[in-house]
Amino acid sequence: MFSNLKPLPTDPILGLMAAYQQDTNPNKIDLGVGVYKNEQGDTPILESVKKAEAFRLENETSKSYIGLAGDLGYCRKMESLLLGEHSALLADRVRTAQTPGGTGALRVAAEFIARCNPQATVWVTTPTWANHISLFEAAGLQVKEYPYYDYENKGLLFDEMITALKQVPKGDIVLLHACCHNPSGMDLNQEQWKVVAELAKDVGFTPLVDIAYQGFGASLNEDAAGLRVLADTVEEMIICSSCSKNFGLYRERIGACSIIAKDTAVANVSNSVLLSVVRGIYSMPPAHGATIVDTILGSEELTGLWHQELAQMRDRINGLRSLIVDNLHAQDVAQDFSFIKHQHGMFSFLSITKEQIERLQKEYAIYIVGSSRVNVAGVSKANIEYFAKAVADVIK
Ligand code: LMR
Repeated sequence: MFSNLKPLPTDPILGLMAAYQQDTNPNKIDLGVGVYKNEQGDTPILESVKKAEAFRLENETSKSYIGLAGDLGYCRKMESLLLGEHSALLADRVRTAQTPGGTGALRVAAEFIARCNPQATVWVTTPTWANHISLFEAAGLQVKEYPYYDYENKGLLFDEMITALKQVPKGDIVLLHACCHNPSGMDLNQEQWKVVAELAKDVGFTPLVDIAYQGFGASLNEDAAGLRVLADTVEEMIICSSCSKNFGLYRERIGACSIIAKDTAVANVSNSVLLSVVRGIYSMPPAHGATIVDTILGSEELTGLWHQELAQMRDRINGLRSLIVDNLHAQDVAQDFSFIKHQHGMFSFLSITKEQIERLQKEYAIYIVGSSRVNVAGVSKANIEYFAKAVADVIK
């Protein structure tokens, strides 16, 4: 039976990560996978996480199952983190399941949507995170795209986006990136979020918000502001969140899938379906990541420390955006890269060709995803000149 299988191409992001790990060039630079790195190129464990882990090691009393929805303390705290003061107002309508990472949240959401309406189409931004489309298709859903990033002007195709969303059939799902759009770094502003929220209400599509980088853009609250406008406006929505980046808990696989329904009765029914989806995929989530986040958010001291550490990561990323632009321009390149300064989060497109990306990898051991998406956090003061010279060389 297995011999009938045909080989599949490796994942564009994870394949690159593996190739980088095998490269022995001492000058190699990884600008591929979305993982935060410090000036030394390391991804250290946050101090707040270390303290929470130490506390848990001492105080955890059982390794028994934690239940289908996971750690309920974690779930409530994630609702507060996502919805802010709106979480208390929405408490009767929101239900959350802890999931294995943000990807787990999206996979659960996909199966949940298929249970609601297997004919629903999921609309995603052009472009979107490489894994979005396959995640929804794996649940048997159709996926279509709507205009989003303006490759030519390095901005948003907002008018085109609105025109396309007006045509979305009632009952379909529209996936929106809450902040730090992956892969373009281009985000909606607050006015644009309001327009999208009103549109969702008028047209009758259900927003699905993917929030994997809360705190990496402007701040925890500002990065969730668009999501909160939606939650105030529409009757129902889905939120898929991740603690991989903002808590640096990548390998612990910790995220959440939250459903906001129009009233408590529908929320309870939705929750029963959500938990049945969970049971059918992995039964129950692992506990460790949730206990760390629950401990941090349950302690004023640890929350304060985490806020500082998150701000440090965010400030470093924003500083690197300027460093990249200044160093590229110092090489007298013809292209204007200043747009990188105005985008948010870990990613921007370098807007260079496939051939130029291949040359960067072959000749300079600089690893960039084929779409030209760069992880800004992968550069440092130590390697920025090497990077800028290499880019200048391949684009001249
Ligand atoms: C990325 O986009 O690089 C990250 O979200 C990691 C992943 O799983 O692709």
